[in-house]
Amino acid sequence: MLSFMKLIHLLSIVVWVGGMFFAYVVLRPSAAEVLQPPERLKLWDKVFSKFFNWVWLAVFLVLVSGFYMIYLFGGFANLPLYINLMLLMGLVMTLIYVYVFFKCYVPFNRHVTKQEWPAAGAMLGTIRKLVGLNLTIGLLTITVAELGHSF
Ligand code: HEM
Repeated sequence: MLSFMKLIHLLSIVVWVGGMFFAYVVLRPSAAEVLQPPERLKLWDKVFSKFFNWVWLAVFLVLVSGFYMIYLFGGFANLPLYINLMLLMGLVMTLIYVYVFFKCYVPFNRHVTKQEWPAAGAMLGTIRKLVGLNLTIGLLTITVAELGHSF
């Protein structure tokens, strides 16, 4: 059961963190080089609407599999430091994502629908910074999870 939970955990993290990596490092500069602002904003609106569906599923599965593994390890008492760190960083990533979705993406989608390009552009700037932050925390969490065994 532990290895099955770890598989679900890792596949969800690959989708979430891998998706943020592609969006931030590959798609963002490519769209800026090729598309004019209105087209670029419409592209991101479509990208977010599809990617965030997968992120909701990934966040749910990371939390359920993570807490279930803690239960299999006998609960929170005597948990190794690296799992406590992963739990903290995982919850911070989840809170940042929930903020991005409700406080940034929902208004961004409304601005794009109403073709309010300056307001949409400003909101995209905020989303970019927060996705950059969550990508950094995600890569750090994977590092903690992998190197944590040896500490
Ligand atoms: C609330 C959130 C989370 C909890 C409770 C949690 C808990 C756990 C637990 C108990 C394990 C098994 C550790 C072991 O077998 O030694 C694990 C493995 C792992 N977790 Fe998390 N995790 C959470 C979030 C995350 C996040 C957000 C990431 C990455 C962005 C992550 C990355 C990993 C990785 C890479 C492993 C595999 C480590 C190995 O190779 O054994 N976890 N997690």
